[in-house]
Amino acid sequence: MNEYQNVKSLLVIGVAVIGLSISACGGGGEGPPKPPPPAPPEYADKHMPAGYWNNPEILEEGKAIFTGQQNIDVNCASCHGKDGKPVKAGARDFRRTEQMKLYSDAVWFWRVSEGVSGTKMKAWKSKLSEDAIWKVIAFEATFGLNGMEYDVAKSQWVPAGTAGAAPAAAPASDAPAAEAPAGGEAGKAAE
Ligand code: HEC
Repeated sequence: MNEYQNVKSLLVIGVAVIGLSISACGGGGEGPPKPPPPAPPEYADKHMPAGYWNNPEILEEGKAIFTGQQNIDVNCASCHGKDGKPVKAGARDFRRTEQMKLYSDAVWFWRVSEGVSGTKMKAWKSKLSEDAIWKVIAFEATFGLNGMEYDVAKSQWVPAGTAGAAPAAAPASDAPAAEAPAGGEAGKAAE
């Protein structure tokens, strides 16, 4: 083996080691998106009330609950952050769209109602009505899934207003394209 080959094999090993350490790190923070467990049977059929997702009034109420303005004993923001950026270690980061997309409305409802055992996330059902839980969930979704809603039939997040069996509105055809001015400059130039 000559000197050139030695350098070359060192380089190959070096690159391999760097590659391995990058893949071992995941993406930092919470690591790669990981699907939550499915909602237990008693929660599997719980769904967001119609018209709640992305409804400004509902979001206002949800925000008041989330930030503890409605009930000082319920302050989601004290861990999850006012803007969805966690302020307590381990609290779920609601801004991570790739992670948030893996939750259904039912799973969220279950987690907020019953908490996550072995973590700081406690059960909130003794402090919040079902309706209040839905409102806070609608608000929480805006951090990572703004303008989206959960389509129960498709089991996925879709743009607001497109979920469910609602018939697609007829495409708006009453907006004519601006007409190109005829003549104009060209006509003048011909004088
Ligand atoms: C004392 C801190 C704390 C408070 C207050 C808190 N959470 Fe959490 N929350 C956590 C932690 C920690 C986790 C991560 C649990 C885990 O590891 O799965 C979490 C996770 C979650 C999750 C995701 C559950 C999952 O399966 O990943 C949701 C949804 C959630 N919280 C909503 C809320 C809502 C809504 C409130 C207010 C009603 C709230 N949290 C209040 C600490 C908190």
